[in-house]
Amino acid sequence: MGNSRYLVEMNDISVEFPGVKALDRVHFNAVPGEVHVLLGENGAGKSTIMKVLAGVNTNYTGTIIWKGQEITARSVDEQRQRGVSIIFQEMNLLKNLTVAENMFLGRQPLTKTGNIDWKKMNQDARALLDSINSDIPETVQVSALSVGQMQMVEIAKALSFHCDILIMDEPTSALTEKEVESLFSIIQKLKSEGVAIVYISHRLQEILKIGDRLTIFRDGQYINTVNVKDIDIDQMVAMMVGREMTDYYPKVDVAPGEKLLEVKNIRQGTVLKDVSFYARAGEITGFYGLMGAGRTELVRAVFGADPIDSGEIYIKGKQVAIKSCEQAKKLGMALLTEDRKNQGLILEFDLNQNISLPNLDTAMGGLGLDKNKETENNQRLADSVRVKTPSLMQKAKNLSGGNQQKVVICKWLNTDSDIIIFDEPTRGIDVGAKAEIYGIMNDLKKAGKAVIMVSSELAECMGVSDRIYVMHEGEITGVIGTEEIGNLTEEQVVGLATGANKKMSEG
Ligand SMILES: Nc1ncnc2c1ncn2[C@@H]1O[C@H](COP(=O)(O)OP(=O)(O)OP(=O)(O)O)[C@@H](O)[C@H]1O
Ligand SMILES: [Mg+2]
Repeated sequence: MGNSRYLVEMNDISVEFPGVKALDRVHFNAVPGEVHVLLGENGAGKSTIMKVLAGVNTNYTGTIIWKGQEITARSVDEQRQRGVSIIFQEMNLLKNLTVAENMFLGRQPLTKTGNIDWKKMNQDARALLDSINSDIPETVQVSALSVGQMQMVEIAKALSFHCDILIMDEPTSALTEKEVESLFSIIQKLKSEGVAIVYISHRLQEILKIGDRLTIFRDGQYINTVNVKDIDIDQMVAMMVGREMTDYYPKVDVAPGEKLLEVKNIRQGTVLKDVSFYARAGEITGFYGLMGAGRTELVRAVFGADPIDSGEIYIKGKQVAIKSCEQAKKLGMALLTEDRKNQGLILEFDLNQNISLPNLDTAMGGLGLDKNKETENNQRLADSVRVKTPSLMQKAKNLSGGNQQKVVICKWLNTDSDIIIFDEPTRGIDVGAKAEIYGIMNDLKKAGKAVIMVSSELAECMGVSDRIYVMHEGEITGVIGTEEIGNLTEEQVVGLATGANKKMSEG
């Protein structure tokens, strides 16, 4: 019999996948009306234990006590009936259906004659979206939404099931500030109604703001459960990675070289309004802005993924017309996309195949395919960012979210490009691995490459970049030179990102 204070108690939970002990006798419990944060490095087992509670991973051992009774979590439906609702880390929306259809998939309201009641379904969807302050139209196809908007739809959908416990697996990783604010007020409301919230996030600041209790896993092991108000970020990190971390943003000094990329007056519909910038060898050029500022659109346009209306692109001083990504690659550019699931990885392929993807023509041509050498090289890349996997034969879909992101990085490091664009490279990545990714960017910088980083995290952008362009609504509203980065306050930079101020030259 469990302690009746708890809504749920999970004890000695173990889960094994072929070659991976994902959870080794871990514990987790939740009380009504709390935000219980689950923290751990990529691959620590956070999503796995929550998928046990939600009835997705049914191959577990250990005990679950739900409202004082021992239960077995046998299926998603059964757990949902009991009151467990989950927002998955990987999005599960069907792109060809509308927002409303996705929200009510398999349980559409019916008319008296047994047809789908479209009007009611759309109205119900509207009401749910309104309740989270979202203006996403309920009748558009999901394929037209940004990653952040898709996340909001998932949240609205989860709220449509009455629940006692709501699990949010990295809900804010792609949300705008405004959407994060709405989410936090929803969380407060649910708490006051006695709902227990499980909150998984790599944003440590956020955890301090809304967490009540915190449970830490490391490498499938239970480490500790503490009150959030009793600890600080350094202590959180130490428990999570098992060592002290001091320097989050190691900088290296390199004298910048020639302009490897220069972009003049790019325009694209209403999205990019006359944008100019350059990126030099031996430099990390940062693009800061709020979600929706046009940074992803800009790098996609430069990379030839989307057409531009007008503008000029120069590579090493020579004007080029980039009409496709293929062409951009041939010209020595690489783009690490923010949307790993749709643009970054082929989930059914193994890691070896994924890492080799951008190189397929090089590997096949000329000397013939040297499989062993290729695997060796891929393994070295995977080790350099510490991808957690039993082997490179593992399918990409079986990796934890953060480890998938690391594979996307390996894939592009494999191309030996001169201009490397990272779009939100550390989204969903734990602090330890973040430092490794910054290390890789620094190595590229030392090797004389032009590194471009798009980031929504101000501390990261200021900590890592040598120069920063700030964007707001499709325009560059600020240019921050190397000397200034240390001197501007965060408020000043945010002022540029919100369009409140402009600063159009360095110094
Ligand atoms: N279906 C699966 N098949 C094989 N291995 C799996 C499967 N699902 C998860 N794993 C492995 O189990 C371990 C724990 O993964 P989990 O997704 O729980 O990590 P996480 O803590 O959520 O990490 P992240 O912060 O990156 O999302 C990882 O090593 C992962 O590769
Ligand atoms: Mg996860």
